[in-house]
Amino acid sequence: MNRIGVIGCGLMGAGIAEVVARSGIAVTVVESTPEALASGQTRVAASLERAVASGKLEPATSDDILARCTFTLALADLVGVDMVIEAVSEDEELKLGLFRQLGELLPDPSVILASNTSSIPIHRLADATSHPERVIGIHFFNPVPVMKLIEVVAGNRTSTDTNRRAHEFATLLNKTAISAPDQAGFIVNFLLIPYLLSAIRLFESGAASAQDIDTGMVLGCGHPMGPLRLTDLIGLDTTLSIAELLFAESGEAHMAPPSLLRSMVRDDHLGRKSGEGFFSYPQ
Ligand code: CAA
Repeated sequence: MNRIGVIGCGLMGAGIAEVVARSGIAVTVVESTPEALASGQTRVAASLERAVASGKLEPATSDDILARCTFTLALADLVGVDMVIEAVSEDEELKLGLFRQLGELLPDPSVILASNTSSIPIHRLADATSHPERVIGIHFFNPVPVMKLIEVVAGNRTSTDTNRRAHEFATLLNKTAISAPDQAGFIVNFLLIPYLLSAIRLFESGAASAQDIDTGMVLGCGHPMGPLRLTDLIGLDTTLSIAELLFAESGEAHMAPPSLLRSMVRDDHLGRKSGEGFFSYPQ
């Protein structure tokens, strides 16, 4: 791998660009507006600065990592990459449109077309391209520089070669890959999202405080953070999108988004990224 393309530089895209550049591979990051591009660039730089400030990264190494990242508004700048990782928001129509374009823009049969989708079945994205054998899910976890897991999700038409190369790529990034089934939510979100939704329902019922729910799971079960703080970290909008898809696919009541989650998203209480969620995050 010489160069990887990352589409979308939000929370996940920025983290993906950072870990790819840290592994020595050049990255081309594409965003759709100048504002999003600038804030994505700031996100990557801030994360590296944090590592420098805590003594985990030499300033010169941080500069080298940043120098490997190119930021652009033009999808056409992806021509020549070995792999593209799409990391735009969890909107199926948006992703389908992108995969249609990527199939045409990158006809080289060796280029992998990957999605960081957290829940949309990969075969649906693959069907949008004329190259389904090159489409695969490479799902990272937040915060990307910290979390060791990657779910590799092969669709029914993904080639074994694409699958093998995706696993090798995870190793290259010093992450552990698992093979997850191509069903909504894969492995982790299939299990995690109903748990988060249950915590939101418990809080919504007024039976327990947000702090007590979280302390219960941190001290009682040894989780690194409680479910409401974790929802704030993931983003309430992202959690809602995944829950909606899981509910639509399964019809299971425990996958249905609670009305409190919907109203908080409507009020722009998205968690850490907006400064307000189940807890407050002063800038
Ligand atoms: N970027 C880079 N590094 C970060 C970071 C970030 N955003 N946040 C924390 N870190 C690093 C810190 O630098 C620190 O590193 P060292 O120990 O080497 O110094 C380490 O992580 C611990 O950080 P903190 O001491 O600040 O805080 P903490 O001990 O409370 O850990 C946490 C923070 C890593 C987020 C931890 O609470 C945790 O693991 N939480 C669970 C996260 C989780 O479950 N993520 C999965 C979400 S689901 C998902 O992403 C999938 C999806 O599709 C929705």
